[in-house]
Amino acid sequence: QEIQKGSYKHFMLKEICEQPEVLEQCMRGRVKASEGQLLLGGLAMHMDRLAAATRIIIVACGTSWHAALLGEYLIEHLARIPVEVEYGSEFRYRNPILFKEDVLIAVSQSGETADTLAALQLAKQHKCLCIGVCNQVGSSIARETDGGVYLHAGPEIGVASTKAFTAQIFTLSMIALKIAHRRGEIDDDSLKSKLQAMTELPGLLKRVIDQKETVLQMAKVYRYASNFLYLGRGFNFPVALEGALKLKEISYIHAEGYPAAEMKHGPIALIDQFMPVVVIAPKSDPNYHKLQSNIEEVLARGGAVIAITEDDNHDLDNCDYVIRVPTTDEFLMPVLAVAPLQLMAYYIADMRGCNVDQPRNLAKSVTVE
Ligand code: G6P
Repeated sequence: QEIQKGSYKHFMLKEICEQPEVLEQCMRGRVKASEGQLLLGGLAMHMDRLAAATRIIIVACGTSWHAALLGEYLIEHLARIPVEVEYGSEFRYRNPILFKEDVLIAVSQSGETADTLAALQLAKQHKCLCIGVCNQVGSSIARETDGGVYLHAGPEIGVASTKAFTAQIFTLSMIALKIAHRRGEIDDDSLKSKLQAMTELPGLLKRVIDQKETVLQMAKVYRYASNFLYLGRGFNFPVALEGALKLKEISYIHAEGYPAAEMKHGPIALIDQFMPVVVIAPKSDPNYHKLQSNIEEVLARGGAVIAITEDDNHDLDNCDYVIRVPTTDEFLMPVLAVAPLQLMAYYIADMRGCNVDQPRNLAKSVTVE
């Protein structure tokens, strides 16, 4: 059936706005918070092997690679299994070391990305357990993996991925929690409270997206910039990378994402009044005060700061713009923090007259090398 834009100007905007429902779809039949249950049918028969893994390797490309990077942070933090994140293209050609006890997770919206598929096939040759995190049901990666968890995000039409990214990080959170619980790293009560926090997320994300107008006003101010820097740390570092990629892909503005503390090792040299710096600085970040000093460093050099922080946090009011998100569990903050970045990229690209849904030179799915 044909997918319509409805009242939205572009598919991308529609897909950003439907993310709260995407989270609901993703949790349907899986998250039973009141019973403290998390059911991931596609992993059920592999749970013993997953929980016993000595190493997990996550392969992906593009936006999915950013989700994979957050997957590493989540699995290591919650389940305490060492994780490596690989670009499909690098992994497949560098004669990687693989043991049959390793578990490979392939993250791909389309399930057809050539390099991710080839990396998966390599792991299969080494007899690793291979798990897919795909959106496209019945896709090549979904078929070639031993099991997996579908995103259930619905078809994504915009070439620049938005709702699939959100569903990927949410799904990887579920996988991390499932493994953590099986390994005894988190107890029943902790699982229950984390599942409860997940259940509340769609409503919270809706509140973030409802601030579209504020983001639009901000986009008007910065639409002529030729460079942007995005900073975040911990769970929000992959979000900084993804925010920068969104802007690059659809508005053709040069943007870089950096771990906030690395700013002093390079990008600080670029800061002046012409380079806006987006800082994801939630108080839930255990190193929040360090992010605060990064913000001060940018402001002291005349840079403009757009901060993303919680509703009730007023210590960043000296920034040029503050985008507010509700409070949530630290590991879920990326789901809320990425939405304003997607919206900002969208509005800037649209105001610059770019072809938002089909940016130049990019393909929705890269099925050839
Ligand atoms: C292309 C798309 C990106 C996507 C990447 C990986 O570059 O333009 O939006 O993130 O491929 O695609 P996949 O389907 O494997 O997630």
